[in-house]
Amino acid sequence: MKLTKMTVALCASVALPMAAHATELEVTHWWTSGGEAAAVAELAKAFDASGDKWIDGAIAGGGGTARPIMISRITGGDPMGATQFNHGQQAQELVEAGLMLDLTDVAEANNWKEVIYPPSLLDSCTLDGKIYCAPVNIHSPEWLWLSNKVYEDLGIPVPTNWNEFVATAPQVDAAGKIPLALGNQPWQSNLAFGALVIGIGGLDLWKKVNIDKDMEAAAGPEMAAVFTAAADARKLAAKSTVQDWNQATNLVITDEAAGQIMGDWAQGEFQVAGEVAGKDYTCLPGLGLNEYISTGGDAFYFPKLDDPEKEAAQKRLAALLVSPEVQVAFNLKKGSLPIRGDVDLAAANDCMKKGLEILKGGNIVPSGDQVWSADVQKQNEDLMVEFWKSDMDPVAAQAQWVENLKSGL
Ligand code: GAL
Repeated sequence: MKLTKMTVALCASVALPMAAHATELEVTHWWTSGGEAAAVAELAKAFDASGDKWIDGAIAGGGGTARPIMISRITGGDPMGATQFNHGQQAQELVEAGLMLDLTDVAEANNWKEVIYPPSLLDSCTLDGKIYCAPVNIHSPEWLWLSNKVYEDLGIPVPTNWNEFVATAPQVDAAGKIPLALGNQPWQSNLAFGALVIGIGGLDLWKKVNIDKDMEAAAGPEMAAVFTAAADARKLAAKSTVQDWNQATNLVITDEAAGQIMGDWAQGEFQVAGEVAGKDYTCLPGLGLNEYISTGGDAFYFPKLDDPEKEAAQKRLAALLVSPEVQVAFNLKKGSLPIRGDVDLAAANDCMKKGLEILKGGNIVPSGDQVWSADVQKQNEDLMVEFWKSDMDPVAAQAQWVENLKSGL
């Protein structure tokens, strides 16, 4: 996306009120890996440079650990100034309970409805016509990351899709390398399965199940083929004993593992390790089979603090997070795509460029967090942990998965 004259004018006109004096805001998030920390530092730097003060509230252990802590603080009367949630329904009950700040005036002053793309990101922030979050990135989970060196050392071409990855896995295993790196956190198993649904099941099946809520399709033979593929994949991950997602990414970076199904936030780790896309590692969106990406990613929500000075600072931060300058600085470090189409990621690497092309082409679908409740997502995460770490029968797993989905209808 080229920076046009209109865009330059727009950037200059973006309403970014300056603080009269520094107001401190505690910001909670779960970005604690090397790449994530480098990215969140860009947000803190921008907020501090604007005249306010970012008090970092990083929570280790991933979203599954951080979100319950964030929610209990807000409902328990100990709210932070701003907090990360994923795009979708994770903060819906907090908004419905009247605990979150209405940002509609900020959105209108900064033309969020015109500039935020895709519009579904702002829809996920909107309840009863009011806007309660500032989207900051688009992360898509459906990527396969490959160590080029593992294949070069074996004298075989780097796979161009999931099927070639599976076909060459025996050679990788025989060479003492882990075919598929996978961490033990529940959301990682659910993410891997979701990528297989799009990659192997395809877009039509994904839409039938997740948009049309067609439970016959969910229980049908096409989904059965995805569960079988997932059962095959879990054998490839059997020797992966790490816990955190970035430890699994590190197995690929250090060429101990051939591949990892992970969201494009893995880019941040490759970047911090000094690895070059295309040269040291290969990225396959949609597992190289169906180049669709889902609009996962992150937004910031602002608990009500009953303090006019803090509220003014919250609104300044919300405007800053969506501004073109911060969008470029943050997303380049995060490995994610920007939430607005009027910025120029000239420094984007080959993998980010692949994602931008897919985004521009409209080959996008909502994320699981945007189409299912947090409760259904949690049920499926629990199922997937059990499935991926056992020899659970794929037929039984599919039946349970359908029941989980039905509970959210
Ligand atoms: C996701 C989040 C990403 C990424 C990942 C791993 O939920 O959208 O920003 O950091 O968690 O922590």
